[in-house]
Amino acid sequence: MTLKAVVFDLDGVITDTAHLHFLAWRAVADEIGITFDEAFNEQLKGISRMDSLQRILKHGGKEGTFSDEQRLALATKKNALYVQSLASLTEDSLLTGIRDVLADIRAAKVKIGLASVSLNAPGILHALGIHQAFDFCADASRICRSKPDPEIFLAACAGLNVRPDAAIGIEDAPAGVEAINAAGMLSVGIGCGLNHAGLQLHSTRELTWKCLTEFWASRTYC
Ligand code: BG6
Ligand code: MG
Repeated sequence: MTLKAVVFDLDGVITDTAHLHFLAWRAVADEIGITFDEAFNEQLKGISRMDSLQRILKHGGKEGTFSDEQRLALATKKNALYVQSLASLTEDSLLTGIRDVLADIRAAKVKIGLASVSLNAPGILHALGIHQAFDFCADASRICRSKPDPEIFLAACAGLNVRPDAAIGIEDAPAGVEAINAAGMLSVGIGCGLNHAGLQLHSTRELTWKCLTEFWASRTYC
């Protein structure tokens, strides 16, 4: 089968916003007496805003402490801090290798999709100046379930009009790799702790068109 599409996660794959999410959540958590470190933050990657808050409250033993209204206020505060930190994003904020791999995928006439559960994704793509690189971006506001549910990847494949088994998904989060696998796509994991990915790379520096095509060929013919 020919490779028809490559679907990218955004935060932590295209640009380093994963760290900005962490800083914003940590500031809000501090205010309500909850502390957490980067190791715990790994569990929040790919998880929607409200689900992330739930996990943080549970981690701090405060799951039942806040009303719906208070939880919404905490999530809104986190998002305001996060959006403030996004002001520093420019076209230079793409992770190494991303501009080249997007251009090479396009040149090979393979479709490019985005599967991010971030409601800020459209704004971030514009700030990075790469919104036109995507044939389809799955709309996070229409998704009911966070990763590891495959919903967002399946929505991206449907929007691209390709079968999931003709597509590769790229993720930096354990929940994201799980979502790609559950969608029936081939998974590439960027970073450590992603043993369940079909192909693991240390960083986006290694994410080249050559590496993607070799991975696809090894899977098709072995
Ligand atoms: C994902 C991030 O891409 O988007 C999560 O990995 C984040 O950490 C989620 O919680 C939702 O983002 P936003 O921008 O809608 O709060
Ligand atoms: Mg990510």
